[in-house]
Amino acid sequence: MEGIYRVIIQRRIRRFKKRSIALNLLKKMVNCARLAPLARNLQTIEYIIVNNKELCSQFFSYLKGAAYISPQGDLPLDKRPVAYIAILVDMKKADQKYFAYDVGAAVENILLFAWSKDIGSCWMHSIERENIAFLLKVPSHIRVDSIISLGYKDEKPQIEKFIDSPKYWKDNFRVLHVSKRSLEEIIHYNYYRNISRR
Ligand SMILES: Cc1cc2nc3c(=O)[nH]c(=O)nc-3n(C[C@H](O)[C@H](O)[C@H](O)COP(=O)(O)O)c2cc1C
Repeated sequence: MEGIYRVIIQRRIRRFKKRSIALNLLKKMVNCARLAPLARNLQTIEYIIVNNKELCSQFFSYLKGAAYISPQGDLPLDKRPVAYIAILVDMKKADQKYFAYDVGAAVENILLFAWSKDIGSCWMHSIERENIAFLLKVPSHIRVDSIISLGYKDEKPQIEKFIDSPKYWKDNFRVLHVSKRSLEEIIHYNYYRNISRR
């Protein structure tokens, strides 16, 4: 596999190396987000790069990570993200109907560019918004929408065929397994057709 296809197929991780990420790379991630598609091109998203060690460790307690595999999958200190990007939306200017799509497009650009540089990421939406806003001095009209956890890859998760549960799991060797519906199950050609097994 090569190029962007490989990046998209392989991107997934929940455990990181301790190695720090150069600020220049973090800035490039934000630049990728900045250029994502935006409904009405409203320009309502801003970003905070968090790479200060003390802030990062405090930050971690405000995120609910990997709920399906807790406590088994809880991260020891040396496997935690080494940086974060907070995705902020100016709610005075945002279009209520579309801002979540805008965030989605911006976040995906970050995740994919990061992976192309060997950096894994996790999109966090179950977060303690008020605590994070206080910690990062974010004014009240700015919504802390999502947090992207970042760190160099330290695992190789496997894709499994989705049967009936969305839950990811870790096996006895601590390998993370994530299930997805197969291409055959979700693809239609020209017309919607009923496929017996969904
Ligand atoms: C909108 C959104 C919110 C998410 N919020 C969280 C979160 O709060 N905590 C977490 O551990 N993972 C979160 N995730 C990551 C998903 O759990 C993960 O993408 C999913 O399990 C599929 O795994 P994969 O990304 O490895 O394919 C979120 C993903 C999306 C798209």
